Amino acid sequence: MTEQLTVRNETSVPILDALSDRWSPRGFDADHAISDEDLTAIFEAGRWAPSASNTQPTTLVAGVRGTATFDRIYGTLMDFNLAWADRASLLIAVTVEHERDGKALRWAEYDAGAVAAHLSIEAQSRGLHTHQMGGFHVDALAEALELPAGRTPITVIAVGQHDDSDAVSEQIRARDTSPRSRRELTDFASIER
Ligand SMILES: Cc1cc2nc3c(=O)[nH]c(=O)nc-3n(C[C@H](O)[C@H](O)[C@H](O)COP(=O)(O)O)c2cc1C
Repeated sequence: MTEQLTVRNETSVPILDALSDRWSPRGFDADHAISDEDLTAIFEAGRWAPSASNTQPTTLVAGVRGTATFDRIYGTLMDFNLAWADRASLLIAVTVEHERDGKALRWAEYDAGAVAAHLSIEAQSRGLHTHQMGGFHVDALAEALELPAGRTPITVIAVGQHDDSDAVSEQIRARDTSPRSRRELTDFASIER
């Protein structure tokens, strides 16, 4: 593997390193194996995310590369994600329960987003990267994971170590080095001080 590409998000004041360093590569190191401690920490970070009335509607189903669960999740990705996600060390399916005891869990997807954010930042702080995906076949993933009725997959998250060596296709490397941007802070947030 060559020297890691350093991407630093521009911020007007310093923020936590894991936040300003976070980005979503597609080039992953296919030889990297995630340690047990990193693996557990990532899920602990997600578990402690807040949720509306602490309803915790999110359940994660995950497999490290080489397992049947990894292959099941990978097999339901759309083509543009199949092209790179096989090199990730871990694939996580984020699933949510939209209703419980006949009552809608109105913030279920919002809560799932918080889980994803928490675990992404924990992974980043451990020198790993995450890449969230909406590009998968929902019914196929629900079936592949034998999800119970009422639980829907919302996203898939690839976790691994970034690789910018020529083991990764030129096309993927080009995408990984293409500029990333955000709306201006003043457009993103209206703040009265
Ligand atoms: C809900 C969600 C769905 C996404 N779906 C895909 C996807 O299917 N394939 C992909 O390559 N990237 C996907 N992304 C990654 C985004 O394109 C990426 O986060 C965005 O461009 C910002 O880049 P950054 O994460 O590097 O800051 C998704 C991100 C989110 C949060």
